Amino acid sequence: MKGRILSGMRPTGSLHIGHLSVLENWVQMQKEYETFFMVADWHALTTAFDDTETLNEKVRDMLLDWLSVGIDPGKSTVFIQSHIKEHAELHLLLSMVTPLSWLERVPTYKDQIQQLGKEGRDINTYGFLGYPLLQAADILVYRADTVPVGEDQLPHLEFSREVARRFNFLYDAHVFPEPQAKLSKLALLPGVDGRKMSKSYHNDISMTEDTEGINKKVRQMVTDPQRIRKDDPGDPEVCVVFTYHKIYNQEELKEIEKDCTAGTIGCVDCKKKLAVKIDGVLAPIREKRRELEKTPDLIDDVIGTGERKAKEAAESTMEKVWKAMGI
Ligand code: TRP
Ligand code: SF4
Repeated sequence: MKGRILSGMRPTGSLHIGHLSVLENWVQMQKEYETFFMVADWHALTTAFDDTETLNEKVRDMLLDWLSVGIDPGKSTVFIQSHIKEHAELHLLLSMVTPLSWLERVPTYKDQIQQLGKEGRDINTYGFLGYPLLQAADILVYRADTVPVGEDQLPHLEFSREVARRFNFLYDAHVFPEPQAKLSKLALLPGVDGRKMSKSYHNDISMTEDTEGINKKVRQMVTDPQRIRKDDPGDPEVCVVFTYHKIYNQEELKEIEKDCTAGTIGCVDCKKKLAVKIDGVLAPIREKRRELEKTPDLIDDVIGTGERKAKEAAESTMEKVWKAMGI
């Protein structure tokens, strides 16, 4: 039997090329697994509860991005978290058996409270504390065994396994498999300024960027700061442009490394080479998106079909849960 995958993303609006490697990973998995891909709109509310006006637009925008990269609603169940109320019910039932201390010690919890506190946002809420438990419910309600995520999500996966184990133990039942993380092999791409890529830092390259936009972003990338003149020898290992060449330009990598170290290629030319490569990757995605946008009902259809399929799977798990708990 095929393994079952569940993964999700918070709808942060149109995605950037850092998300692309995650999505390409999802696309590959459609062949080997039964795949469920979810828009985590409730999770978005845990930190942006006061910013709901554009939420629906962001959901649709992100779905278009998913489809243009090759997520195929014919193969995968593509759905919106808030449409499947079973997530909320399971979250509630699991909250009865989850020790508070487990939630408080999840490393992302204190980090994020602090981080957002610095930005003047107060997220000391019940909902935010419960973030990892909601995520556990997302996974467990489909009895998914595999969860493709980035490294930052590993503590949440560990937490989900603990909750699954505790439920199975308490009710002496094997309702939930313990979900395993599946890390994508691709390296994390930095933003053009070398910090973490994020729309809020304005250092991202959007997946929908056109050729001119890509050129502009690549021109902004920080290079080896020791390199002042064109023929100064450079150190590619400290250069953001080179980090991108490693991912998008394997063919010329050795040559660029050699020429940079020898001071025989200028950063302007080096950047031009990269911009062409990135455009080569994004052009077909833009094209597909334009194609998809011609069918206005498409996203509604995808959401409707996904909802039906997800609901069926979630309901069948909830029956097992009720039976185990005797309710
Ligand atoms: N927490 C995940 C993130 O920020 C999003 C998410 C919500 C998720 N529910 C999930 C990922 C379930 C995997 C499985 O990226
Ligand atoms: Fe970076 Fe290329 Fe300039 Fe070397 S030549 S510092 S790799 S941009």
